[in-house]
Amino acid sequence: MARTGPPHLDFRSDTRTLPDARMRRATAAAEVGDDVYGDDPTVVLLQERVADLLGTEAALFTPTGTMANLLAPLAAAGPPGSPAPRVIAGADTHMAFLESDGLRRFGGIELLLVRQRPDGLPDPDALAALLAARTDRPVVVCVENTAMMHSGNALDAEATYAVAALAHQHGAHLHLDGARLANAAVALAVPPAHLARPAHSVTFSVSKGLGAPAGALLCGTREYVARARALRGWLGGSLHQVGVLAAPALVALDRLPDLAADHETAAALAAGLATVPGVEVMRPPRPTNMVMARLAGLSAGECAERLAGHGVRVLPLPNGHVRFVTHRAHDMIGVRAAVRALAAVAATVSGPGRRPRTTPRGLAPGTDGGNMTTKPPARGLEERLRDTRARLENDVDLWVATAGASRGVHLIPLSYHWDGNAILVSTPRDSVTGRNLLADGRVRLGLGPTRDVVLIDGVAEPVDVTELGEELGDAFAARTGFDPRKLDEPYQYFRIRPRRVQAWRESNELAGRDLMRDGAWLG
Ligand SMILES: Cc1ncc(COP(=O)(O)O)c(C=O)c1O
Repeated sequence: MARTGPPHLDFRSDTRTLPDARMRRATAAAEVGDDVYGDDPTVVLLQERVADLLGTEAALFTPTGTMANLLAPLAAAGPPGSPAPRVIAGADTHMAFLESDGLRRFGGIELLLVRQRPDGLPDPDALAALLAARTDRPVVVCVENTAMMHSGNALDAEATYAVAALAHQHGAHLHLDGARLANAAVALAVPPAHLARPAHSVTFSVSKGLGAPAGALLCGTREYVARARALRGWLGGSLHQVGVLAAPALVALDRLPDLAADHETAAALAAGLATVPGVEVMRPPRPTNMVMARLAGLSAGECAERLAGHGVRVLPLPNGHVRFVTHRAHDMIGVRAAVRALAAVAATVSGPGRRPRTTPRGLAPGTDGGNMTTKPPARGLEERLRDTRARLENDVDLWVATAGASRGVHLIPLSYHWDGNAILVSTPRDSVTGRNLLADGRVRLGLGPTRDVVLIDGVAEPVDVTELGEELGDAFAARTGFDPRKLDEPYQYFRIRPRRVQAWRESNELAGRDLMRDGAWLG
């Protein structure tokens, strides 16, 4: 059948990778048995290889990561007849978003959602509170690595150990949804086993960037995996000559180092997208193969739809961003095409300060003479507060304006950490900003692009490393990707308490832009 429309560059997911010739040959040549009887040699080999890779006693092939994540807490709950577990998972993980109904319906699981830090780790205080709540059910804590909704941030083993320590204190099982643990390991240049070690069980997918057509492995102790095997049978997840799927998965395992190329493609894409006027790119501290971007003035859904019109498929997310996931099918030609496509979409969205550009007639309905003048309706207080808090939580950099007697007005970009009440920044003590703030703490901060800005007036107080505390110092380092405590040059931390916060996009939002006055939120 003739193909209609432009060919699509598909950035929706790394599950879009296709089995290549070597994988197909491996399938054709696979030696098979019957995995229900445990004698499919190719499946046995795959299970052994993945258990080795993750440093666990055993591994079990499952058709999907979703099934592995359902089996994981059920097997953790104990032998048949044990009460269904309580699962505590990050509020914006795959388990919370796309698996929660299945966990509840098919596993009888009680699912509690926990707030996540900007790097994707469950917030320790919120987690401790949930763990302290009494229950007769066995408790399973889940951590996702990489953290999908946090732009695919790779969590290091120390971060997972912190959650493991809390889970252990309360006798809870720690499950790691490592659908993209291979990406995390490559990004952090550590063996996957190093990242898996803090957890009792791990889901490891071979069908994401590694490129196998299907499959995930649930890994843990021999006893745990034996329980999961029985549960898999009851769920209808036991397959017979499934060596035909295990064979391309074995090929996929050889390709772990290739993921570094996907990460480089993502970095190039992020840099390119960030040059498009009106686009804000969310980059995490430890990036992998995901890029999330938001175009001011367009919802994620509209942005995705218009990009598709330019031949680029992306996934709209509930947080207003669109997701690009890079994988082996992408190269720099595709990256440039994606950047051009977003620039073309951005050019159809006008507003003050952004030069209106000519849109080809007929491309966007509702345009006048080719120049589209779609100004989104003004947001109310609640929406602005929500967007502003999300920005404070998710952005990494802001502009810092200070003033000093000798150097006058001074403006620089800095990375920051937001703890819900105050902004922490760090700059060399001898820098102009450092000196200005030490002399006069008054400061003005700007977050986001000029078309979707948050302005904060605040007062900065110096914080010495000794007062900072290890936890806050670590949180700052995790969020910003740099740790001033480890530098030779003396750095000064400043805690900035907002006094006034304003947020607006277009001129129709100038009224009502105050969100905080005298240090008190207005809503
Ligand atoms: C973080 C995460 N966990 C689990 C899954 C589920 O994997 P599957 O599609 O194999 O069911 C996905 C799928 O994309 C995922 O991104």
